[in-house]
Amino acid sequence: MKKLTIKDLDLQGKKLFIRVDFNVPIENGKVSDDTRIQASLPTINYAIGQGARVILASHLGRPKGGPNPKYSLKPVADRLAELLGQPVKFATDCVGTEIEAEAAQLGNGEVLLLENVRFHAAEEKNEENFSRQLAALCDLYVNDAFGSAHRAHSSTAGITQFVSQAASGFLMEKELEYLGKALYNPDHPFVVILGGAKVSDKIEVIENLLKSADVLLIGGAMAYTFLKAQGLPIGKSLVENDKLDLAKQLMEKARARKVRLELPIDHVVATQLEPVEGIRTVKISETAENEAGYDIGPETVEKYRKEIGEAKTVVWNGPMGIFENSNFAHGTMEVARAVASIDATTVVGGGDSVAAVNQAGVSDKISHVSTGGGASLEFLSGLELPGVKALTDK
Ligand code: 3PG
Repeated sequence: MKKLTIKDLDLQGKKLFIRVDFNVPIENGKVSDDTRIQASLPTINYAIGQGARVILASHLGRPKGGPNPKYSLKPVADRLAELLGQPVKFATDCVGTEIEAEAAQLGNGEVLLLENVRFHAAEEKNEENFSRQLAALCDLYVNDAFGSAHRAHSSTAGITQFVSQAASGFLMEKELEYLGKALYNPDHPFVVILGGAKVSDKIEVIENLLKSADVLLIGGAMAYTFLKAQGLPIGKSLVENDKLDLAKQLMEKARARKVRLELPIDHVVATQLEPVEGIRTVKISETAENEAGYDIGPETVEKYRKEIGEAKTVVWNGPMGIFENSNFAHGTMEVARAVASIDATTVVGGGDSVAAVNQAGVSDKISHVSTGGGASLEFLSGLELPGVKALTDK
C-alpha cells in the first residue's frame, strides 16, 4: 500500500473517526446478517487496544438525504456491542455541537457509533461544509469501508482534506491486497467467472480482465446477450438487444487476446416462472420460442467445473442463474462448490455470489469473500476508488 495504514498512526488518546460499511440488512429492528460488522472488528478492536477514542460512521440504505427511522443505525450499535463485548454509545446524529461534545467526552477505548451519515443530503454530495463538520469530531481518520470506497462522499472522501492523517483499516487493506493480487499479479491459469443479469453492468470488468485472465466463464442472464449475438436461439430469455454488437466486440477482443470466453452449452428453461411451468433441461440450440433460461445446465456445469479445477486464481462475480429459486439453484451451487474445492487463490465478490457461497455452505473455503459489491466491480474494472485515493500517501 502506498497509503498510510492504521498501523502508521499513533492512536493513544486520539479521537479516531473510522468510516465503516455497516450497510447491513435489518429485519424487525435487528441485524439479520452481520458479516460486514464482523469484518470490521479487527480494525475496531485494534483501535480500542491502542487506547483510541473510537468514533464510527456509516451509511445504511438509501434514505434520500433525510432522517428516516427505517434506516437508523441503532440496531447496528446493539449488535456491535454484543460482538465487541463492551458498550457502544449511539449518537442520534453525526454532526453538530452536541455530537462533537459526545465525541469529546469519550474515554480511551470507548466506542461511539454515529447515526446514518446519509440522513444529511450533503453526505452524498460530498459538500465541503459537511466534510468539515465530520472532521471536527476527530483528530485522525481511518477508512475501513471497502464496500463504500467507490463512493466519493463526505465520509469516504471529503473529510480526508480536513484531518491531519487519513489511513486505511485492516479490512480495506485485505480487500485491496486480494483483489489487487488477482487483478495485477495472478497465478495462472486465471479463471474469471461472471454472471448476473446484465452484460452492461460488467463491460468494464470484462474489458479489464481480458488483460490478465486466461479463461472467462459466463453464466446468468448476461450469457444470453452473447449467445444471441452468436445467432443461437434463446427463446424469451432475458437479453439486452442494444448490447449485441458490444457482445460481439467483446468476443472478438477475447479471441485477439487469446482469452477463452466460454458460454453455456445447455440450460434449465421454463415457460413460466411463477408459478413455475414447463421446466426442462435443453441444449441452447434446442431452446423453444416460449422458453426462458434460468440456470446453466449440467453439461455446462461439468465444463465449467473442469476449467475451475485447473485454475490457480479464480475471481467470481455474479450468479449462474436465479439460485434463490431451488429449481434453478443447481448451477450456482455447483460452481460455488467447485470454487471452494480447489487449491488456488479464490476471490468472490458481489452481494449475490457472496449469498450463493453462503447458501452452499462453503464461504470458509474461499480465500477471500469480498464485502464490496459495486466497489469490487469498480476495482476489477481497473478504476481507482475515490475512498482509497483520498487517503494520505505514505
Ligand atoms: C453496498 O452495499 O454496496 C455499499 O454499502 C454501497 O452502498 P450504495 O450502493 O447505496 O452506495
